[in-house]
Amino acid sequence: MKENIFLVGFSGTGKTNVGRTLSALLDYEYIDTDLQIEADTGRSVTAIFAEDGEPAFRALESAILEKICESNYQVVATGGGIVLSKENRTAMTANGYVVCLEARPETIYVRLMLDTANRQDAANRPLLKSDDPYQRISTMKAERARYYAEADWTIHTDFLATEEVASEIAQVLPLLRRRSDKQRGGAGSPATPGSPHAARQGSLPFHRGHEGLSLTAASSWAKEPDPVAGPVAPASAPSDDSALVVQTSQGSYPVLFGENLLANLGDVLLKYLPQAANRKAFIISDDQVGPLFAPTVQGALEKSGFRVFVYQVPAGESSKSLTQVSALYDWLAAGRAERKDLVLALGGGVVGDLTGFVASSWLRGLPFVQLPTTLLAMVDSSVGGKTGVNHPTGKNLIGAFYPPQAVIADVLTLTHLPERARRSGWSEVVKHGVIPGTGTEQAALARFERLERNVFALNTGDMALTASILRESVAVKAGVVQEDEREMGLRITLNYGHTYGHALEAAGGYTQLLHGEAVAIGLQGAARLAELLGYCSPEFVARQKTLLEAFGLPTSARVYNFDREKILASMKLDKKVEAGAVRWILPRGIGSVEVTRAVPAEAVAQVLEELL
Ligand SMILES: NC(=O)c1ccc[n+]([C@@H]2O[C@H](COP(=O)([O-])OP(=O)(O)OC[C@H]3O[C@@H](n4cnc5c(N)ncnc54)[C@H](O)[C@@H]3O)[C@@H](O)[C@H]2O)c1
Repeated sequence: MKENIFLVGFSGTGKTNVGRTLSALLDYEYIDTDLQIEADTGRSVTAIFAEDGEPAFRALESAILEKICESNYQVVATGGGIVLSKENRTAMTANGYVVCLEARPETIYVRLMLDTANRQDAANRPLLKSDDPYQRISTMKAERARYYAEADWTIHTDFLATEEVASEIAQVLPLLRRRSDKQRGGAGSPATPGSPHAARQGSLPFHRGHEGLSLTAASSWAKEPDPVAGPVAPASAPSDDSALVVQTSQGSYPVLFGENLLANLGDVLLKYLPQAANRKAFIISDDQVGPLFAPTVQGALEKSGFRVFVYQVPAGESSKSLTQVSALYDWLAAGRAERKDLVLALGGGVVGDLTGFVASSWLRGLPFVQLPTTLLAMVDSSVGGKTGVNHPTGKNLIGAFYPPQAVIADVLTLTHLPERARRSGWSEVVKHGVIPGTGTEQAALARFERLERNVFALNTGDMALTASILRESVAVKAGVVQEDEREMGLRITLNYGHTYGHALEAAGGYTQLLHGEAVAIGLQGAARLAELLGYCSPEFVARQKTLLEAFGLPTSARVYNFDREKILASMKLDKKVEAGAVRWILPRGIGSVEVTRAVPAEAVAQVLEELL
């Protein structure tokens, strides 16, 4: 893979300044596609647009990009519209890393105004030549959002200086390299000593001298062990925080977070489930996760004496169906699964819910183990014992409370997650930072502050810290679930943010917003509602918003054209509705929530208006 870094993003997000600073930091060549077009044609971009039209400009831009892609070690600041062409997006992805610089429309507007005032050159900022520049920026940005979302990494630049953005990109480079290695199937294989790949792994910033690469200061990334994926990954010793124990009416189970747990799964399992020795292990995964981790899991289990069977369902929500349940029963029957054999769910929440339900019902219950691979599954769905599949009339309507025998979360699997999916999982962690769980307000405040202090390290992939924070977060859910296994009381507080969240997710047809993104907006909505009704202060609302946004999560749905009335109607159908009224979980502040039905419809509608 080439080492080019393509900076994409809307006008005014800082690509030029960040590009120059980053190229100096890495000692890479700096290229600006617009300047290159001007140099090649001897005409200004504005003139080309005005005289030849946009299609002619886009053709020039694509030709320049093609030429740029032939070279290596460049930081390329691109024009805001370069992502509109699929060919351009493919070319950038194939020839380097794509980093998107984001900013809110209001930030962009102010930056463009200031820039124009400084340069006294409005011609280069045609966006401002409109009756309502702010609206124009918002609309164009929303139209391009789905293309920007394809970037390998996104940085919200609103509150960051140029140097901070450049430095964040330099810091995430090792992660992007590892990811692209894995995507190309080279996961975990040791780098050849002396090769540029070896020289680059885990260290930064580095400088490219005349004879290749020479390393300077090593970052914390250098300390990380090899990622777990791929059958050839050496099974480094697992690291785990000591297990949390969740008590249920049917017994207790451990929840482990750590690195390299999958590569050592046989040993880890037998430590906690010695009764499973020499049994059959039925691994259920999906066709995206399976190829990444199933060979490692299978190898580790076979090494410990298990006889392993693997089944992959298609990735995605549609696999939570009775059709898949039936296919899995056939597979278990063919493999002659017996009462003491293990069923393992290797994947996100979909695989976990489906596998749990199959395990709960085949032979009236087989022991099952959760091996969650998404942030959401680690921090939410794998713990609590809710399993199930969907029915044509609604989500999760068929199911059972069936706790696992163990939850083993290898955080290194998270490094394979697409950027957007990774970010979206943090909303549940923020939620666990606000609700009290079974602890004190002080404990919640400490959790929230720890998130605030560490958000940058978490965003840039500090895996040991990630394991520790997730463990702390799950302890909140575990405490609640332990006290209210069957959702009769306290467990409702876990739905903080989910009333607006579920309705927004449904409004987007479950395709426009990821679950975690909808929850983030829902958390903000619930907090604003609480403020409006006098439960919490504006400072709390602002503080939660800042944390959500620092994780790269949305706090409004303004870019989508959702139908307000449909959302209001869908909220009335939410599962928190009891005797015709929605039960709201409203924060009083960090570590304290109010569960109430006494919320005027006008206030709900007013906040929804703000969110949309
Ligand atoms: N049981 C519960 O208490 C509970 C709670 C919350 C949500 N859920 C359920 O969880 C489901 C959503 O879970 P999800 O968000 O994990 O979605 P998911 O399971 O669909 O996973 C999202 C996508 O990421 C892929 N993926 C998973 N791990 C990966 C990895 N490490 N690297 C690369 N790709 C990976 C998957 O193949 C899938 O395409 C929903 O069905 C929801 O109803 C259940």
